[in-house]
Amino acid sequence: MKKDPFASLAAEALATDPRIEQAKKLLLEAVKAHQKGLTEVKPANPALKQQYDELLAVFAECRGSKLWFPYIGSGIGHGPFVELMDGSVKYDFINGIGPHYLGHSHPALISASIDAALSDTIMQGQLQQNYDSVELVTLLCQASKMEHCFLTTSGAMANDNALKIAFQKRYPAYRVLAFDHNFSGRSLALTSVTDKPAYREGIPPFGYVDYVPFFDATNPEESTQRAVEVLQKHLSRHPKEYAVMCFELVQGEGGFYPGSKEFFTAIMRILKENNVSIFIDEIQTFGRTPALFAFQYFGLEEFADIVSIGKLTQVCATLFNKDHRPRPGLLSQTFTGSTSAIRAAKVILHELIHGNYYGPEGKIAKLHLYFAEKLAKLSKRHPKLIQGPFGVGAMIAFTPFDGNAQRTTQFIHDLFQAGVMSFIAGNNPSRVRFLIPAGIVTTKDIDAVVDIIETTLTNETMP
Ligand SMILES: Cc1ncc(COP(=O)(O)O)c(C=O)c1O
Repeated sequence: MKKDPFASLAAEALATDPRIEQAKKLLLEAVKAHQKGLTEVKPANPALKQQYDELLAVFAECRGSKLWFPYIGSGIGHGPFVELMDGSVKYDFINGIGPHYLGHSHPALISASIDAALSDTIMQGQLQQNYDSVELVTLLCQASKMEHCFLTTSGAMANDNALKIAFQKRYPAYRVLAFDHNFSGRSLALTSVTDKPAYREGIPPFGYVDYVPFFDATNPEESTQRAVEVLQKHLSRHPKEYAVMCFELVQGEGGFYPGSKEFFTAIMRILKENNVSIFIDEIQTFGRTPALFAFQYFGLEEFADIVSIGKLTQVCATLFNKDHRPRPGLLSQTFTGSTSAIRAAKVILHELIHGNYYGPEGKIAKLHLYFAEKLAKLSKRHPKLIQGPFGVGAMIAFTPFDGNAQRTTQFIHDLFQAGVMSFIAGNNPSRVRFLIPAGIVTTKDIDAVVDIIETTLTNETMP
């Protein structure tokens, strides 16, 4: 076997010091012991209500707005369950839209965070990159087959970097194309791309963005033709002015609408012919379709110029090919990620790549099928209460009642009180969405969650 060239480093001696292994074992045993009671949904403890309400009020006052959910975590969970400061235990079927894809208080992630705490640098970035960052970017390049990877701390920043890369490559082209109802993030630039007027109230436009209608699964051919026509119209109205088109292959915030290979291919071919860069935003889809990257699931490898990822990876990233490599100075950040996020990302990627998650027989496809069938049966039993399911892989949604936004929001809050965390997506109709913690969830958990959904739905229709 080849000798490890770094074995003589002090850091290596620290990492392999038996006292650390022993300490970690003790810490993980303690966590396990305290997780024991967190194996089912529990209501809030009435004795904690007043203090919990005060915590929420203080938080709302300090941040200047109420939390969407009355959720303040206690700092421990167990697989799909999480404990809140009010003593309640909930099924977490939205997992912060990412952080808990492998489940709460996961021993491998705790262990990675302990290693991170011992590795000197809390935040890595421009002038301080540890070995972990080298390993992570290499892993991401290998998994995506893209040539470059730049880490960052948020999805919005990954997307901002993606747009900058495309603009520099296509200079002097300055316009952006995006789909109707896309969500790209909330930075100053991205509020102009995200197709949601309420999110840019009072914000001046930053950039020139034109929209193309998205795929309609109920009318695939016509919707593809319509999108192609609109795209061609934009291209002929503004020749050579478009730098990039943004793609969300499964619209996330928009309501869990997937496109199709044929739809995307028809559009991407035209973009290639017109020298418009293709940027695929996988901040929400990464890891969740039946392939690691959604662009791989839809078979779009030949078209992707730039891809962004985030959420379940903990640390975010912009991947790009050689011909889109920016000139020095365009991308740089004091912070590209915390060491614990980078170490956690490696654990998560390793689990996803080696854990039988993908392909038609993989964990994600099977979990989707199981959950979707249960929801379809629920819809059959209560056709007026639920339509669907919709979505792909670990992204599953349904429309409650008639999809009215206010009623859907109320339902999601009632479901939260009943012990299941979900989130809203889309508008008119609004949907209840789940991002299931695929790394830990079992069919028994899905059964229990569907029972709670059914009870909550039927209770809402009671006089
Ligand atoms: C598709 C997509 N792009 C970008 C973002 C923005 O990511 P972040 O909230 O980490 O800035 C999100 C977040 O919901 C997203 O779903």
